[in-house]
Amino acid sequence: MCGIVGIIGTQEVAPRLIDGLRRLEYRGYDSAGIATLDGGVIARRRAKGKIVDLDARVREEPIGGATGIGHTRWATHGVPNEANAHPHANDRVAVVHNGIIENFQSLRDELLAQGHVFASDTDTEVVVHLISQIIGEGVDPIEATRRALSRLEGAFALGILLLDRPDVLIAARQGSPLAIGHGDGEMYLGSDALALAPMTRRITYLEDGDWAVLTTLGAMVRDLSGATVERPEHLTNLSGAMIGKGGHRHFMAKEIFEQPQVIGDTLNAMFNPTERTITLPPLPFDPAAVPRITMIACGTASLAGMVGKYWLEQHAGIPVDWDLASEFRYRAPVMTEGGLAVFISQSGETADTLAALRYCKQKGQHCLAIVNSPESTIAREAHAVLPTLAGPEIGVASTKAFTTQLVVLACLTIALARARGTMDRATEARLSGALTEVPSRAAEVLNHDERIREIAQETFTPARDVLYLGRGTSYPLALEGALKLKEISYIHAEGYAAGEMKHGPIALIDETVPVVVIAPSDELFEKTASNVQEVVARGGKAVVFSDAAGVERLKHLALEAIALPAVDPFVAPILYAIPVQQLAYHTAVDKGTDVDQPRNLAKAVTVE
Ligand code: F6R
Repeated sequence: MCGIVGIIGTQEVAPRLIDGLRRLEYRGYDSAGIATLDGGVIARRRAKGKIVDLDARVREEPIGGATGIGHTRWATHGVPNEANAHPHANDRVAVVHNGIIENFQSLRDELLAQGHVFASDTDTEVVVHLISQIIGEGVDPIEATRRALSRLEGAFALGILLLDRPDVLIAARQGSPLAIGHGDGEMYLGSDALALAPMTRRITYLEDGDWAVLTTLGAMVRDLSGATVERPEHLTNLSGAMIGKGGHRHFMAKEIFEQPQVIGDTLNAMFNPTERTITLPPLPFDPAAVPRITMIACGTASLAGMVGKYWLEQHAGIPVDWDLASEFRYRAPVMTEGGLAVFISQSGETADTLAALRYCKQKGQHCLAIVNSPESTIAREAHAVLPTLAGPEIGVASTKAFTTQLVVLACLTIALARARGTMDRATEARLSGALTEVPSRAAEVLNHDERIREIAQETFTPARDVLYLGRGTSYPLALEGALKLKEISYIHAEGYAAGEMKHGPIALIDETVPVVVIAPSDELFEKTASNVQEVVARGGKAVVFSDAAGVERLKHLALEAIALPAVDPFVAPILYAIPVQQLAYHTAVDKGTDVDQPRNLAKAVTVE
């Protein structure tokens, strides 16, 4: 949600700020801007729209300066226009901000009464005027900034330029992630390490309540009392090369096609090929001894958690609660003593998931995070981490993060089932063997890309509404298919448990509504097949994803039936996720929407 980049150095920064913003654009993309200290003034360029628009603006009217800040915005307060674009500035102070300043209204009223004139509708602008007000009272600019920060409530990451102190760049973090990058005679600021990847791999993550004064030579990090604190420097594995499109038209396509590889990478970290067993990394608690598990996440990650619930209950016999983080955190949920809470998040920064994690820690739960960003806040605050090794996911719609989350949850299921004595060695060998086949089976699924593109074009692009149906572990996939289609193609789509269809949604079915049926040959197949009959009897157009046996059984009914490789039903959700992603992708491409940066969305949802 919004991206921040900052550089304090000795060479022109404007082009590099824009370059950094390009890598952060997936975090928000309704407007962007940069500000620099340019020969004794704060220079600023902003533009509504994407980074290309900002780039054009800066080319038209360049700005110089070796210290600057930049921002790409996902609007919270104020519509996306140039006046509301960051940096916000007056002639003394410029600020970029990620998050929400909750007490902005009272601060704004106070500053208006003191004669400050506001140029935007944003919450951020109060920070500019508050710092200026305190400087105007004769306080040293850095101390004025500290005092201003101590008055802010809410979640924020800030980058601040002070005209009176051109030798510093100030960073502050309260609830929204912020990283400092260490260069050679230069220092950087970024809302994630990805933004800084081409400039440095040496990263220091700020903690909540930290603020830092950066100079060209280093950073001094303090807490709000002003006391110096030590934060370690990490070497990230990210490199600039990891964030190209690799010859694909969109990041999403590249990420869909990377799945055989990253599913394999994630599995290999836990699979022992000689013994055909799964071994989890050492955990600071005994996961097999827990009385209850709670799965908590948002969006696509929550749907991976729902599959995990089905698996863990069936194979490990553990009661599993499943919750959306945004509901969980405000529901005062009752937690079983010594329970395990599992948090699933690609970014590791999702505000609601993080708040739920903090609640569970307070309630004495063992907290396990399944994250794709090992240095993220959720990863750092959880008691233990099981990483997904998906690599950076840039397309806003989650694809490879989802399937690697499923792989981790499948491994967790097998490990817990073995430890609890609910799974014998032969079953473990069979299921882990089935898991090891997924990368090659996933590659086979990708061969259907052209056929799925045709189906998307013929049947889905013209549709106004689409239904997705599935049972058992295919039910979360139906929800995921519908979520994927609506977020990138803007077609209204609903996912339903196939057995629920008769309880309402069947009323929607007519010849204009395609119905995607996810039906691997498992013990529920016949029941789903009956639902296909019901759809077709009402004129619905069924598009079936099954295996050869299932397709044989349903092809006389379905408008389209795609035969995926036959696999053990345990691993089917991992495989069947792929064609629903492809279907959404091709529909969106055909409709001409912005696949990687769909409207109104952002990659890391760091506000609640
Ligand atoms: C959908 C999507 C979102 C995310 C959700 C959680 O394609 O990407 O629904 O899954 O915002 O994000 P993370 O996993 O970063 O916590």
